[in-house]
Amino acid sequence: MKVNYSYLHQQFNDIDKHLNDIRLLVKSTEFTFGKYVNKFENEFSKFLNIKHTIGMNNGTDALILSLKSLNIKKEDEVITVCNTFYATVGAIVAVGAKPVFVDSDERYQMNVENIENKISKKTKAIIAVHWGGSPCDIIKIQKLCKKYKIYLIEDACPATGAEVNNKKCGTFGIVNAFSMHPLKPLHVWGDGGAIATNNTKINNFIRTYQNHGMRNRDNIEFWGINNRLQPFQAIIASRVLKKVNNYIKQRNEVAKLFDKYLSELDGYIKVPERPKEYKEAYQLYIISVKNRNRLIKYLHSNNIECKIHYPIPLHLQKPGMKLGYKKGDFPIAERQAKEIITLPCHQYLNKNQIFYTIEKIINFYKK
Ligand SMILES: Cc1ncc(COP(=O)(O)O)c(C=O)c1O
Repeated sequence: MKVNYSYLHQQFNDIDKHLNDIRLLVKSTEFTFGKYVNKFENEFSKFLNIKHTIGMNNGTDALILSLKSLNIKKEDEVITVCNTFYATVGAIVAVGAKPVFVDSDERYQMNVENIENKISKKTKAIIAVHWGGSPCDIIKIQKLCKKYKIYLIEDACPATGAEVNNKKCGTFGIVNAFSMHPLKPLHVWGDGGAIATNNTKINNFIRTYQNHGMRNRDNIEFWGINNRLQPFQAIIASRVLKKVNNYIKQRNEVAKLFDKYLSELDGYIKVPERPKEYKEAYQLYIISVKNRNRLIKYLHSNNIECKIHYPIPLHLQKPGMKLGYKKGDFPIAERQAKEIITLPCHQYLNKNQIFYTIEKIINFYKK
């Protein structure tokens, strides 16, 4: 038996309907903006229950433009967590600002207790990451932002469909970024992303900036660039969006079985707390395990694909150390980096594959 981590072969094995729509696009020659991008933006706004959604070419640029829309620049500081994907921090650096890290908590999310003493006069924003598609404590972070009058940006790149108290992640911040990379819950045929905001001024700025700053064909408002969502990707995004709630439901069912059986391996495996007010999107199913590297070898030898997200926290990466961070600064994230494993958890796993994975993990520890 094989338990595959990536599900993209199955996801797109029936592409004829997608291709029919793409044929229509080619006939229409609306290769930039146009009705397919508008359609996706309207659908995504409805899905999120937010006023504006702007299609973007990827999640990283969605973060960069979110920061730009708030005029965050050199000399400004932006607080974020040290266990996220490189792009969260890359975006802060790309606008010239300084990333300030906090540790993670036991749910692998931004540690709210660590934020307050990192806020300085230079702090302009917090980028709250819903790491692995699991909600961070966005309510507390939102309160801190209000208290200190700093902006809240959500990095909801991996978290389309995740919720806190029935409200979608990516709708709490003043401006919020999503990725539609192939391994995200909402995905396209390559790169794609989106920004969501209730703020019309921010919406207008981003729409203009992502299209060369153009007011019209012959006049620009300011210097801008091009980070538009490709219309053919908008077609795919619209199709996948229709199914995303269902995918998340199925991922939750897989995760529930893993949680139930793996948490019985007390002392060997630590399953994070799953607060009931949070709906997880399970872009990543992460747990902490004993003898991690040996377990991974064993699972791989049994055809179960698993990964580590990630073995080195960002403050210990080369550019992180250059910011002045060192080993020991964030003990929780550093410990987790040695213990975490990501198991396959997606809509195409069947019961046999799920129980095969569980059985192999139990065998490994009981041997
Ligand atoms: C937390 C986080 N932020 C940002 C990104 C960047 O998204 P993209 O790959 O679409 O640029 C990702 C995706 O990998 C992510 O997981």
